[in-house]
Amino acid sequence: MTPPAPVTVVQHPLVQHKLTLMRRKDASTNTFRRLLNELSMLMAYEVTRDMPTQTITIETPLETMESPAIDGKKLVFVSILRAGTGILDGMLSVVPGARVGHIGLYRDPKTLMAVEYYFKMPQDMHERDVVVVDPMLATGNSAIAAVSKIRALKPKSIKFLCLLTCPEGVAAMQSAHPDVPIFTAAIDRQLNDHGYILPGLGDAGDRIFGTK
Ligand code: URA
Repeated sequence: MTPPAPVTVVQHPLVQHKLTLMRRKDASTNTFRRLLNELSMLMAYEVTRDMPTQTITIETPLETMESPAIDGKKLVFVSILRAGTGILDGMLSVVPGARVGHIGLYRDPKTLMAVEYYFKMPQDMHERDVVVVDPMLATGNSAIAAVSKIRALKPKSIKFLCLLTCPEGVAAMQSAHPDVPIFTAAIDRQLNDHGYILPGLGDAGDRIFGTK
């Protein structure tokens, strides 16, 4: 059996430091959002590490040269609403040419299952590399449902990027979509009975938008 695609835990000190500050319960909405934005830029750097480049001809002030360039338009960041939106700005400031898709999923509080209410992707998905973003990979239900919907559009590749996950989330995702690499800043200890990650950082959506 082929082993699942790798889980990359981004260990860079800047990433780890910012995550620590975000976890603190006394971090204000403003601080949380700013840190998430900064962290997203750093995570974008990591998730795009293997992005293909092509050589283009340019003029420097002194000479003509062949130089590598990326085609950001082929990349799609898919935000799982609503918390994924908090990651988008930072990612787009690093890859401004990327297209953006949205998938609206909420967790039924009783069953913890993902219920879809919105789905809008760019055209020509079969030509694009997709990075699905959501701050938390917890039960995995939303991420799995999102990847299943996107996969049906036959993109060239799919990656999943989050800030925090847990062994249960990784296992669920790897079992449903073993070919999807996961990028995260940390794998926490466990899920609690309400589907929250421990020690975690609380409800990412509420902390980004100040709704609690
Ligand atoms: N979603 C969150 O926002 N936080 C968790 O801990 C788990 C899922």
